[in-house]
Amino acid sequence: MGCVRWREMEYCHTMIDETVVTQLSDDALEATPIERAETIPSSWYTDARFHALDDATVFAHNWQCVGYRGQVEVPGDYFLANVAGNPIIVIRGKDRVLRAFYNVCRHRGGPLATEDGSCEVLQCKYHGWTYLLDGSLRGVPKFDRVELFDRKDYGLVPVQVECWEGLVFVNLADAARPLGDAIDGVKERMAPITIGNWQFAHRQDYDVRCNWKVYVDNYLEGYHIPFVHPELCKLYDYQKYVTEVHPTYSLQAAPLGPEDNIYSSGGGEAFYFFVFPNFMLNILPGRLQTNLVVPTAADRTRVMFWYFYEDVSSADAKRRIADDLAYSDRVQQEDIEICERVQEGLRSRAYDRGRFSVDQEQGVYDFQLRLKRTYREWRDRESG
Ligand code: FES
Ligand SMILES: [Fe+2]
Repeated sequence: MGCVRWREMEYCHTMIDETVVTQLSDDALEATPIERAETIPSSWYTDARFHALDDATVFAHNWQCVGYRGQVEVPGDYFLANVAGNPIIVIRGKDRVLRAFYNVCRHRGGPLATEDGSCEVLQCKYHGWTYLLDGSLRGVPKFDRVELFDRKDYGLVPVQVECWEGLVFVNLADAARPLGDAIDGVKERMAPITIGNWQFAHRQDYDVRCNWKVYVDNYLEGYHIPFVHPELCKLYDYQKYVTEVHPTYSLQAAPLGPEDNIYSSGGGEAFYFFVFPNFMLNILPGRLQTNLVVPTAADRTRVMFWYFYEDVSSADAKRRIADDLAYSDRVQQEDIEICERVQEGLRSRAYDRGRFSVDQEQGVYDFQLRLKRTYREWRDRESG
């Protein structure tokens, strides 16, 4: 292996070990048709160098769902997030404009906030510099004799933020394409269902001992459902389970069976939307569950579930929500167990690359193609 050269990646300060390029051969990056394609190499799931590569090339350049509008309804409300290792604060201004900034003070890098809340001004927790809600620096205590210092040069660093159907997204890229382009067609495909006014009910985070790509791969196919989720399988008319791949998203959909179940008194449909690289919208009658899949280390992933419902207040709704949370948690435990076993398998000497079911794994194939495109663009840029 050649000497290790660390390089600062643009604004996001992620350090990529460029020797990772040895794992990005033309062969591995090739976009072969699914009928002949192999899955991505196991090293992409296990090699620690991919953690920084993914943060810098995938997560810092795509829209990331970090919260929902109800968290920042009132001027002064804010919430915190972390995107590609960067602390972010999303805040509603006094002018009602929603803004996002790096949660990083321009003095010596302290945090403006350490938990979600509401404020009149943002005050750094370290030495008390204050910022207006539009990010401009206002108060600088005990700074009288400092020279060549102009407050207006030291405002908070802004991050692009947009709302879609009541969900809040940020993008760290300097010239991000609009969120609407990135998520185009999803709203139309779920019509006549509209989720924008559904009420938040619960958040549940899971830490999983696998690479984030293992979790996403697993999400993107229903192939495993009869084996990993025998109970869930009975919910659907599984013979009618389909996968659609669209330019900006993929969708798995299945009609629910005709019998009474916890989501309907028979009938209705399940929709599982995926927006690259790590966002999922799981819709059942009157219920939306979003998943955000965030790598915390090369072999660790945090998956955040937010639950929203059309009705959160009636007694019947409360019972249905409790049932849903318990049921979804069981399904999630099944997925966690299989994903952690797969991570072990990928680490083993026995495995490098596999194949795809043409019928059942188009979603996984499409995800891996997008990943390859992202890595290829980085590699080609790096090699000039
Ligand atoms: S780091 Fe914020 S005031 Fe010093
Ligand atoms: Fe699953």
